[in-house]
Amino acid sequence: MKETNLRVVDNTPLTESVWRMTLEGELEPPRPGQFVNLRLEGLFLRRPISVYDGDQGRLTIVYKMVGTGTRQMTALQPGTELNVLTGLGNGYDLSKAGDNPLLLGGGVGVPPLYLLARKLREAGKPVTAVLGFNSATEVFAEEAFRDLGCGVTVTTADGSYGAKGFVTDALPENYSYFYTCGPEPMLRAVYRATKTGGQFSFEERMGCGFGACMGCSCKTITGFKRICREGPVLEKEEILWDD
Ligand SMILES: Cc1cc2nc3c(=O)[nH]c(=O)nc-3n(C[C@H](O)[C@H](O)[C@H](O)COP(=O)(O)OP(=O)(O)OC[C@H]3O[C@@H](n4cnc5c(N)ncnc54)[C@H](O)[C@@H]3O)c2cc1C
Ligand code: FES
Repeated sequence: MKETNLRVVDNTPLTESVWRMTLEGELEPPRPGQFVNLRLEGLFLRRPISVYDGDQGRLTIVYKMVGTGTRQMTALQPGTELNVLTGLGNGYDLSKAGDNPLLLGGGVGVPPLYLLARKLREAGKPVTAVLGFNSATEVFAEEAFRDLGCGVTVTTADGSYGAKGFVTDALPENYSYFYTCGPEPMLRAVYRATKTGGQFSFEERMGCGFGACMGCSCKTITGFKRICREGPVLEKEEILWDD
């Protein structure tokens, strides 16, 4: 983990409520599935956001405006400096991907899968991505995944774009392993519907963000794990769902 000041170089809406922000500064290349924690003016708790893409010195996040902090973020102009904790979280383990990995993202669970897709494509893997949204107006990142050379299926719950239904209604026949991120009901459905091993990224609410409050705990076969420290990525085999 590193605390650093980053400069906003771009902050653009992708849909009515989802924005993409690019930051520059002293940054190590992030790993897919890691997140950053942003300090925002007047807010005690930092706001955690997954890394969408990044390289040495540059980081892109994609975020949904849901409340005070993310609304404040939409107003940040290029040139603004932000205090950011970087290099947080374990990230996805790419070594388990196998020959034809499957990526399943729902809503703002899609962003952490983009850097993963890019790294898997750079490793020469064919990648299938199923991206789920509520309706056509909420769809983002489809072209970005296609530009990487991924096979992409978009699902919408109301059928206004792509295949009607949830990501679990569009699972391909064959895949070697899966990686997923999305709202908890989707993650539970993915857990039940998938036939291979896989990894889940949990975007639970966070408190302190550095392991002290236990507010982000998740039950596993080896005891509670803190999403902010031992996560946000957990293996399918270790997760115990609360009823
Ligand atoms: C590891 C991690 C990675 C994340 N990655 C992303 C990302 O890539 N893109 C993105 O848009 N969001 C992501 N989130 C969620 C993001 O952190 C919250 O949406 C954000 O902190 C809300 O701040 P706010 O001040 O705008 O909302 P608040 O004013 O704090 O809350 C507004 C409303 O949003 C709800 N809310 C707040 N936080 C969450 C949450 N974590 N999950 C569900 N509902 C919440 C609240 O219950 C409330 O109804 C991530 C969360 C975690 C823990
Ligand atoms: S947010 Fe406090 S322990 Fe994870």
